[in-house]
Amino acid sequence: MNVLVIGANGKIGKQLVKLLSESGEHTPTAMIRDEKQKPDFEEMGAKTAVADLEDRTEALAAAMDGMDAVVFTAGSGGHTGPDKTLLIDLDGAAKAVEAASQKGISRFLMVSAIGADDRGRWSDQIRPYFVAKHHADNILRESGLDYTIVRPGLLLDEAGTGRISAAEHLEPGGVPREDVARVLFESLRTENTRNRSFDVVSGETPVSDALEKL
Ligand SMILES: NC(=O)c1ccc[n+]([C@@H]2O[C@H](COP(=O)([O-])OP(=O)(O)OC[C@H]3O[C@@H](n4cnc5c(N)ncnc54)[C@H](OP(=O)(O)O)[C@@H]3O)[C@@H](O)[C@H]2O)c1
Repeated sequence: MNVLVIGANGKIGKQLVKLLSESGEHTPTAMIRDEKQKPDFEEMGAKTAVADLEDRTEALAAAMDGMDAVVFTAGSGGHTGPDKTLLIDLDGAAKAVEAASQKGISRFLMVSAIGADDRGRWSDQIRPYFVAKHHADNILRESGLDYTIVRPGLLLDEAGTGRISAAEHLEPGGVPREDVARVLFESLRTENTRNRSFDVVSGETPVSDALEKL
């Protein structure tokens, strides 16, 4: 499968591109916004496409040429303000969904955040982030694309265990980014994740089993 990873230079994105590339089953293209980031991906044997989520939808569509699936794992990050949250986490995601629809790419995986679906769980501190994630997820769900919305808990840099809990609603918890990358990778080949939205935290169940049991 030809897979475009949006946010490829991020911590989850890089691990996902590597998994896709090493699998031999997929041809990943890393969507990056800086030419200088190319060599890292060339080393992994991955292609690159340069585009920015603040660009027009047409530029994102051009990056999607020939793709079978799109994974959105970009984010404006905690160091920017609510303006970038709107422009990247909400409108960037919305434009990516629009671009995929225009290109007839039916499979779209979104990295959301645990609690995004429940306003009662939005802490004051990062309410704009949850607003963006909530509406981006709804736009994808209503797009007609074959979506998978993964809502991880607090992301950790420690090594993954390959074992998670995944369900429509879970109590808050942490999860290594490596395991989230594995969830995205396995979701591409797990029919049961089509048109599903679910929380993910660390757990006891091997990723592929957890996705089959959703
Ligand atoms: N932090 C948490 O605990 C938490 C919890 C749940 C979900 N999430 C979500 O998990 C996802 C990935 O997390 P992560 O830790 O891998 O993030 P990360 O390391 O911060 O990576 C985010 C990526 O988004 C890219 N990006 C930012 N603005 C962009 C733009 N205008 N155009 C194109 N790309 C842009 C960045 O590009 P550059 O490398 O060029 O800067 C970066 O590669 C995000 O959607 C985040 O909201 C986070």
